[in-house]
Amino acid sequence: MECRNNYRLNSVALAVGLGLVMGLSGCSSTPAETDQAAREAAQKMVSNMTMDEKLNILVGPGYHADGINAKNKVQGTAGYINGVNNPAEEIDLPAVVLADGPAGIRIDANRKDDSSTYHATAFPVGVLLASTWDTKLAEKVAESVGQEAKAYGVDFWLAPGMNIQRNPLNGRNFEYYSEDPLVTAKIAEAITDGVQKEGVGVTIKHLVANNSETNRFNVDNIISPRALREIYLRGFEDTVQTAQPWAIMSSYNKVNGEFTSQRRDLLTDVLRNEWGFRGLVMSDWFAGDNSVDMINAGNDAIQPGGVNLITKENHRAALEKGVKDGSLNESDINLSVERIVTQMLKVPAAEQQPLTNQPNLDKHAIISRMAAEEGMILLKNQDNALPLQTKQSVAMFGIAQQLTQKGGTGSGDVHPDHLITITQGMSAEFNLDQDLMKEYQSWYLKKRVKHTGKFGISTTYSCNEPRLTSAQFTQAAKDNQSAVVTISRMAGEGTDRQIRRADYLLTHDETRLIKNVSQAFHAVGKKVIVVLNIPGVIDTSWSKHVDGIVLAYMPGEEAGYAVANVLSGKTNPSGKLTQTFPLNYSDVPSAQSFFGQDTDGDKQVDTNYYNEGIMVGYRYYTTANKPVAYPFGYGLSYTQFHYDNAHVKGNTVNNVGASGSVSLSATIENTGESTGKEVAEVYIKAPQGKLVKPAIELKAFAKTEALEPGQKETLSFTIPAKWLASFDDKANQWVIEPGQYQAYIAPSSDITGIKPLNFSVKKTVIVANTTPNALALPKGYKEDNAGGVVIK
Ligand code: BGC
Repeated sequence: MECRNNYRLNSVALAVGLGLVMGLSGCSSTPAETDQAAREAAQKMVSNMTMDEKLNILVGPGYHADGINAKNKVQGTAGYINGVNNPAEEIDLPAVVLADGPAGIRIDANRKDDSSTYHATAFPVGVLLASTWDTKLAEKVAESVGQEAKAYGVDFWLAPGMNIQRNPLNGRNFEYYSEDPLVTAKIAEAITDGVQKEGVGVTIKHLVANNSETNRFNVDNIISPRALREIYLRGFEDTVQTAQPWAIMSSYNKVNGEFTSQRRDLLTDVLRNEWGFRGLVMSDWFAGDNSVDMINAGNDAIQPGGVNLITKENHRAALEKGVKDGSLNESDINLSVERIVTQMLKVPAAEQQPLTNQPNLDKHAIISRMAAEEGMILLKNQDNALPLQTKQSVAMFGIAQQLTQKGGTGSGDVHPDHLITITQGMSAEFNLDQDLMKEYQSWYLKKRVKHTGKFGISTTYSCNEPRLTSAQFTQAAKDNQSAVVTISRMAGEGTDRQIRRADYLLTHDETRLIKNVSQAFHAVGKKVIVVLNIPGVIDTSWSKHVDGIVLAYMPGEEAGYAVANVLSGKTNPSGKLTQTFPLNYSDVPSAQSFFGQDTDGDKQVDTNYYNEGIMVGYRYYTTANKPVAYPFGYGLSYTQFHYDNAHVKGNTVNNVGASGSVSLSATIENTGESTGKEVAEVYIKAPQGKLVKPAIELKAFAKTEALEPGQKETLSFTIPAKWLASFDDKANQWVIEPGQYQAYIAPSSDITGIKPLNFSVKKTVIVANTTPNALALPKGYKEDNAGGVVIK
């Protein structure tokens, strides 16, 4: 029997005297059964609530206000869902605590008049975690997050973030997993399982198409239903159906003319009726412009409550007015309250147990470091420049060795008890050039500039590069066996990145530094390695000057140790890109349309046209034959792997249709000289039928265990029919078109030279029928045959 995501109903269900047989553990009750029991308990409880109490549950207490009947007051969280204390009706439903995500639990580390500390582990950011392609490891990270949540009294974690990295400049790409929905889904499912196993709810976010930060509270994203279904919704759909997250957060933006939090087709027809979502939907903080529409659409919880940013209306008052004027009816209110209370009965608050406030931070630091090391990507390794021998002399350049970025800013920030800088980590592994190290240290302490972010959420620093003399470069090249140049960048919520120096492009100082170091070290036959401590894609046109590049992204609190372990080969890199690094930003399929347009002349971006349709990321580059700097799915290792015996094991799609699948396998052998892991990816080239298809699409992947030299492992892959299907807008259907399909089991999306495997689909398979007209384009637009938006 499948034992996925089992949990028990917390004791409050018993406390309210419903006589349900609860306290289930192990595999004895399925999630659906437990949900059903919780729903019955919730319905009973809600039937005894006053309208006032119900509205309190629908609307949060306000930003930074305590929740009603909050037993745990956890400082620095994002908010609460109010509880109810009604002794006459024997209701004692504690408020539940909501905290961000996604790189750990975001709470304040220090509290007023309290000498204890409340640090949480800073894990690697989403894109680095996804780059592990390791769902078991992601689940382990999530279990640790769940344990910290429980220890600190957090009931719902506002993560994982699963928006698609449509464009490299989206300011929150670091929080998200990939430009591809399959990787996004599989990592999000592992995270959901890991957290919910601990009895804490996840809140997958932001549904849907929150792919940019520019004017995010208002922007209208014009996207064809095909692109929505195949690219932007697909990860959410699979995660809902596979892992049943307890909550979903709707997004800030509009889609096709209407706020997502106010779209009934999205939140009720598609999410609940089509996909079978059983949890609660909450709004993003201060989203939307009509509280009554939110409830009517199926957006159950309005967060954080208080006053709406756009209309300045008080949410609570707006709902009261809705009840009075009949625009809100009681049965819809009851439905939303029941959905919320059902989930509230499952989370730790309902247990009303004292908090330990003592998660195992030491253990979680190790897990954080393991995940960071597993995700780092070796982009370049000319003539085996890496690994560097332990204890060899290394000259470290670049201010990022001091200014090491563990993660991005905004709600995705975490307050850990330590951060290992790259200098600190490297010092533990190598003999660093002391003169240089001291120079960087003192420069950093003198020149760094402090920045406090919006709402005081994140404090960060910036610092220019010191100017070293040519004598210093020459001396360093003489004294050390190799050079490591570090480059860091910051990104955060609320703003998009820019094509300018110090952001997407290197600064003049950084380019000069790379050239000077390379010249000096290459002149004496020594190697130069660059470590990128960045939130996402940057320009890499400088790469020809250096011998090795390690993409470390933002590795969390153990950053320095993780970098050092990868450079020394203690950990053989096995991360692969979940986003494409283009040759030029202008090659990006959405380069022309990002950050959106000002269509009404008020100097604010208001509309974002998703002209590229389904041709996002590698789907575009492989279809248009556009060369890229580093392709999706790519990453090197210190060893080599040979793929053998790739074959299609079975294809049940012709016999059983929608419930069928295609299974494949391949044997991976470590043919190199060090132990390592390999991620193998399955790309499908579909026959061109009625619907235009990208050249290739990722449909499955798997990672080997650590293989010793000479060791082999046979990997199996399954592609469910649903993942083979394309979305036919006109018919409102997911369909697999007939013809010959080719599968490539490959180390990256560059499938050059790989022999395809064939399987065929004999006749059209309708995998699912969907709601007619859901999410349709507004009047005046139509779509081209790859789901791109065209003005009529
Ligand atoms: C972000 C969400 C976050 C929420 C609560 C919003 O601004 O978009 O991702 O969960 O704030 O902090």
